[in-house]
Amino acid sequence: MAIRKIVQKGDDILNKRCKEVKEINDRILELLDDMKETMYQAGNGVGLAAPQVGILKRLVVIDVGDGLIEMINPVIIETEGEQVEIEGCLSLPGVYGKVRRPARVVVEYLNRHGKKVRTEGFGLLAICICHELDHLDGILFDEKVIEFVEFENEEK
Ligand code: NI
Repeated sequence: MAIRKIVQKGDDILNKRCKEVKEINDRILELLDDMKETMYQAGNGVGLAAPQVGILKRLVVIDVGDGLIEMINPVIIETEGEQVEIEGCLSLPGVYGKVRRPARVVVEYLNRHGKKVRTEGFGLLAICICHELDHLDGILFDEKVIEFVEFENEEK
């Protein structure tokens, strides 16, 4: 496993649509491992999408504190309600803002064994799923911010 460099806003790769994964091979599994490692090493990240490590593939890792979820070719198939919470992103350090998201989402994806899985997310998990899936379509959260928020004593 290796820590990969996190691509920062301004790099075109973050604005591109990612391609579906056709075959779950060793390279894909290694990439998922590296993404997990990179997300955990960043410390304050609850999710990471492949374009954030420079790869235009539909892969996401998420951990909101309930364990790791790895998603291959994820698609949101249901949404319900709404919530407005403050978001940040490892590709936009120091940028925070309120974003409107569904309160509940159901996402369908392949796990690393190629099995089709559905996960239901509420609260932070719902936010994180939406945020990370947006990355796969080249959308950064700051495009959706209703109101930017500044933190005075942010640790760098
Ligand atoms: Ni992000």
